[in-house]
Amino acid sequence: MDKEQLKIRIDNLVDELNHHNFNYYVLDKPLISDYDFDKLLEELIKLEKENPEFIREDSPTKRVGGEVIKSFKQVKHKYPMLSLGNTYSQEELIEFDNRIKKLIDSEFEYVCELKYDGVAIGLTYIDGVLTQAVTRGDGVQGDDVTANVRTIRSIPLKLKGNYPKEFEIRGEIILPHLGFEKLNNERVEIGDEPFANPRNAASGSLKMQDSNEVANRPLDCLLYFLLGDNLPYQSHYENLIAAKEWGFKIPNYMMKCKTIDDVFEFINMWDVARNDLPFDIDGIVIKVNSYQQWEQLGFTAKSPRWAIAYKFKAERVLTELLSVSFQVGRTGAITPVANLRPVQLAGTVVKRASLHNSDIIQKLDVRVGDMVYVEKGGEIIPKIIGVDISRRKNTSQQLNYITNCPECNAVLTRNEGEASHYCPNEDGCPPQIKGKLEHFISRKAMNIDSLGEGKISMLYDNNLVKDISDLYNLNYDSLIGLEKIIIDEKSEKKLSFKEKTVTNILNGINYSKSVSFERVLFAIGIRYVGETVAKKLALHYKNIDNLLNASFEELINVDEIGEKIAESIINFFTTDKNLLIIEKLKIAGLQFVLNEDNIPKQLSESLKGKNIVVSGNFGTPEERRRIEELVELHGGKKGSSVTGKTSLIVAGENMGPDKREKALKFKIPIITEEDFLEMISK
Ligand code: IVH
Repeated sequence: MDKEQLKIRIDNLVDELNHHNFNYYVLDKPLISDYDFDKLLEELIKLEKENPEFIREDSPTKRVGGEVIKSFKQVKHKYPMLSLGNTYSQEELIEFDNRIKKLIDSEFEYVCELKYDGVAIGLTYIDGVLTQAVTRGDGVQGDDVTANVRTIRSIPLKLKGNYPKEFEIRGEIILPHLGFEKLNNERVEIGDEPFANPRNAASGSLKMQDSNEVANRPLDCLLYFLLGDNLPYQSHYENLIAAKEWGFKIPNYMMKCKTIDDVFEFINMWDVARNDLPFDIDGIVIKVNSYQQWEQLGFTAKSPRWAIAYKFKAERVLTELLSVSFQVGRTGAITPVANLRPVQLAGTVVKRASLHNSDIIQKLDVRVGDMVYVEKGGEIIPKIIGVDISRRKNTSQQLNYITNCPECNAVLTRNEGEASHYCPNEDGCPPQIKGKLEHFISRKAMNIDSLGEGKISMLYDNNLVKDISDLYNLNYDSLIGLEKIIIDEKSEKKLSFKEKTVTNILNGINYSKSVSFERVLFAIGIRYVGETVAKKLALHYKNIDNLLNASFEELINVDEIGEKIAESIINFFTTDKNLLIIEKLKIAGLQFVLNEDNIPKQLSESLKGKNIVVSGNFGTPEERRRIEELVELHGGKKGSSVTGKTSLIVAGENMGPDKREKALKFKIPIITEEDFLEMISK
């Protein structure tokens, strides 16, 4: 192809792919298979790489992020970003309706829309191209988050049809429930605090500095308001319908209403139906439709007189607080949990609610035996929001927060400025010890897959394993016949270790003695030393003794080791108990020296820039590790979770449905082991 033909091909590919993205993300109706989509995308990536001068601003390849922004630029809104007056009562809506009738003499109609619960955004388009995305800020000026917003697939980078030369469209960036749950699961997995609700998650995502990260968050954007001098119609509803033609995601859930009774009907219908929506709404927005009437009605100091938000009351019930229990997490953090008399709330039976921390308990002054109000708002876990004092018994007693750990009795600590109490007894507190053991045996660490959470618990409860080094003292006699009683509501079952289980466990432990130094370093659980840092340390220091003797200054000079990590390493290796464990592990025969022969020689660069997830069953764990290793040896990066950045999935048998669903969503090709081997052999 000559240059001109190449340009035409690139243009055609961009248009075609954008059209498919629109069908998938905006209309929810994909027209081609993922495979075909990927083929086109691959071709575009290749052509763009070879002809960067033809890369278009609206190319789908520009959705994956790239820019890292230290602080967001402040931008003044061309039109102030006002909020709406709101009410929780239908009487006040009647007053709103009466006010409007008084101020305008002609006929009018309302447009009812859902009030999406997310983060407000203003998008500017010039000549059909997205030029700027700004948050509300203080209403006068907000943050320029354009780089992050470009990664949201349902926001068009370039418009179709007959759009005005310059205009702004406003809407709400939201995180649908499915994406929210997945994001939180991933956060919990890596030890990050989960977000309290989808709104916080959306807002946190939008403010991230690295747009690559934002590209992985399954954000969506629903639009509800147009501003500009040359809009096609003189009414709100008709302009929104037109904007839909230009490629925007304008939800179908809007309705024109002639009377306030019709408005009530819409409200009452959605007050119930909202439970089935895939995202959160917190009310209904009612707007007069005609722009000419907007002018007649004008504004108050804060908001337009032609619109109002009716907010749903969060669903709330009254029930008895039976007791409060305190849970200890793997990091030692204490969470108070309210045990409630079971009660029906927003479609589910609620038995427990979070009480968060001691400040909240104190503020609410909740007491065992109280009748408490439980609410389910945007949060997934219900919360107690108040007490019906009139029903309090005079025998009730103030709730005392625990001073000692409910698991190990250690005196709890609380750091300045932190809300939670912690159990400091890292090495003597059962949930914390079990957490460490579970990490040690996990797949990326020692990969002892014949042990799991349940078996670890059994070994610990039977006093066989107190720390990771004890695993290497287990033998046939200590394990055979070990019993566990499983009690569920109906029956009591006894499980006991049979010969096969015991042999598997011992084999797994034995096999782990050949696990490489860098993974042992990751497995021993030094805070902040993850897989990558462990690798860096192993390569740099070559053996545990060198690392053990490294000073703080030396450590921070190692690539990717900052002060926080260095401090944690020093702390770990100056604790006698840890040194003793290392000694015992050395005696057991674990690898504490880097095996230079094991450092694989790079085979090719053919997978450079590709993030590859290996998932499912490949016969043996070793085979799966071999594939992962091949990914790295050919210059690729292996990932554990499927995200928007994943380029490819190599799937064995029984790949998890979660991963499959994500692959579908992000249109990631899934290939077999054979395909993969063939791919790298070229
Ligand atoms: S119209 C001038 N419509 O709720 C009025 N807002 O306090 C422009 N919101 O700032 C807003 N869904 O962040 C409008 N269908 C909808 C909405 C909506 C959610 C948010 C938006 C707004 C706030 C109102």
